Amino acid sequence: MNDPAQSIPRHIAIIMDGNGRWAERRSLPRFAGHRAGVEAVREVVRACSALNVGVLTLFAFSSENWRRPRIEVTLLMRLFTSALAREARRLHGANVRLRVIGGRAAFPARLQRAIADAEELTRGNTGLELVVAANYGGRWDIAEAARELARRVARGELAPDAIDEALLGSALSLADLPEPDLFIRTGGEQRISNFLLWQLAYCELYFTDTLWPDFGVAALQQALGSFARRQRRFGRTGDQVNTGGSSMLLESAPRPDGTTDPDSPGVRANSA
Ligand code: FPP
Repeated sequence: MNDPAQSIPRHIAIIMDGNGRWAERRSLPRFAGHRAGVEAVREVVRACSALNVGVLTLFAFSSENWRRPRIEVTLLMRLFTSALAREARRLHGANVRLRVIGGRAAFPARLQRAIADAEELTRGNTGLELVVAANYGGRWDIAEAARELARRVARGELAPDAIDEALLGSALSLADLPEPDLFIRTGGEQRISNFLLWQLAYCELYFTDTLWPDFGVAALQQALGSFARRQRRFGRTGDQVNTGGSSMLLESAPRPDGTTDPDSPGVRANSA
């Protein structure tokens, strides 16, 4: 069993699903579910701050969500704009730093301004890093990174052979942050839905039927409990992990390319 103090994920990534069904079950318009979803965001942000989670990434709007009925998209844009404008001061007061990832140029000008203002206001904060993925897609992120590296090759700054996993990873949206340790999807579906495809490679996945507006501190604690009970191996054996990789007999074998195994991505003393 892991030391509970060390079992708090450094980075939690959440797909907030089920707003529409939450509203429909109450005979309310779907938009009421999204509004209630903002309340759940507030509660989970507060809880993550209190638990010293380093990074919380929320999937607010996927590249595919533009396919929703035009009225729902319009209302969501308005909701994001008003929520950001309203919450920015509160986030700042709580020492939360906000960052938005995704293709923001597609958003209405007012929303783009609200994003830029909130990011600017909270830029110097040192508490929870709150990442909102909006008009984001994991494939988009990887394609953007590939395009950026291709530009550097075209300018003669980079040799194609120098492109490896680390370099591609360094061109992605969240390159400066630890990879997610815990992925949560509410609303009963068990899919990644083009969220952080690259960054979720070693992440623990947790799915719950709870609809997003009902997801509060208690539901978060359940997810954290599940995370704390897991053994993360990153390709190693359970014995290697249990001995902390220190035993000569259990030392990692060399990789086929002759390099030694660097510290596995996100390996932590407790739960690796
Ligand atoms: C998915 O539920 C939810 C969304 C597409 C929107 C999520 C947005 C919020 C919770 C607001 C967050 C705001 C900020 C500022 C971060 P769904 O509509 O797909 O639900 P359903 O599957 O029940 O239809």
